[in-house]
Amino acid sequence: MTHETAPLFDALANAAEDQIVFDLPGIEERYDTLRRELPGVAVRFAMKACPVDEVLARLAERGCGVDAASPHEVEQALRAGVPLARMHYGNTVKSDAHIADAYRLGLRDFATDSLEDVTALAEHASGARVFCRLATSGDGALWGLSHKYGCTPDDAVAVLDRARELGLTPAGLSVHVGSQQMAADAWRDALDRIADVLAALARRGISLDHVNLGGGLPALGYRDQRGRPLDPPLDKIFTVIREGMARLREIRGHRLGFVIEPGRYLVADQGAIRAHVSRLAARRGPDGERQYWLYLSCGKFNGLYEMDQVQYRLVFPSHHGAESVPAVVAGPTCDSDDAFSHEHGLVPVPKALASGDPVWVLSCGAYATSYMTRGFNGFSPLPYTWIDGGDT
Ligand SMILES: Cc1ncc(COP(=O)(O)O)c(C=O)c1O
Repeated sequence: MTHETAPLFDALANAAEDQIVFDLPGIEERYDTLRRELPGVAVRFAMKACPVDEVLARLAERGCGVDAASPHEVEQALRAGVPLARMHYGNTVKSDAHIADAYRLGLRDFATDSLEDVTALAEHASGARVFCRLATSGDGALWGLSHKYGCTPDDAVAVLDRARELGLTPAGLSVHVGSQQMAADAWRDALDRIADVLAALARRGISLDHVNLGGGLPALGYRDQRGRPLDPPLDKIFTVIREGMARLREIRGHRLGFVIEPGRYLVADQGAIRAHVSRLAARRGPDGERQYWLYLSCGKFNGLYEMDQVQYRLVFPSHHGAESVPAVVAGPTCDSDDAFSHEHGLVPVPKALASGDPVWVLSCGAYATSYMTRGFNGFSPLPYTWIDGGDT
């Protein structure tokens, strides 16, 4: 099954040079699906996943907001037409200067997870609304995100209590269950934890107005390190989230609002790279075995940063149905990290590949432009383009 649209394949076929292509109508479709599946939940795109003006503008036109992680992201989102009312600062890590800059730009909603941060918010973002991020285990996710952010339930109560004392508005709780989360139970556990904290806060007379469900919704088109489709249980995930929201509304009443901050779910399958073959070579390894290596024009440092966790699907448009050989797939730089993890298996690639042949890398629209180096080893960042529903 493919998750890409025909126009995206057309754009790849028509691209004469390397580039990353974003399918804007495809992104809108994902947004619409999310709104249908989670009615009443405000969607704020985690723009770090794809800080591309055209993507932000298209989502903003559709009513989507933004989760920003720095003053520069706030500025970019404002330029793209995202209203401040649909934006929050979702990064718990911020300096005094970052808080002050975001506040000056008009932002009034901030994530927090420590007494130090909440104290700084009171000083540099007087009267702001704060939501406290609860830590999660990250179990079940490809990227767990479990250590750097979030606090325990007890600490969340203390942080929001302090926020109130300092004249801030304790407004919400947030979680992030881990990126590319494959287990619906991760959301059930997170929502149960939120319910406990809401109850503890209520006992102290603190009533929050929203819950932020964070990111983590999976892309559909990834393969694992062994090349097997990941096939996330998306329908079940949506069901668990809806049930959890209903439970929270029972406890807290129907005025409780919900926000979700998807990153990769909205853009991963809607972005693809047109790259080319640098070389297919066969070399003997230290064990004396001959091993094919397929070197592509793009890799970890220019679009495929996550290639050590996932195998992107590859299409070789000039070699349909050709004889294949098992190869390690790698990027173009002189850096050994710049390769698919090959301890787990090799990728079948056409034996007749020649330098310059086009290759399409699918489902790589998330964290591609954001994790691109400026030109490591002299390999330039990939230019991007987009399909807007008419011409590319
Ligand atoms: C605060 C926050 N929200 C949302 C996201 C988006 O996560 P994902 O791409 O897994 O949906 C991230 C990603 O790191 C994040 O840090």
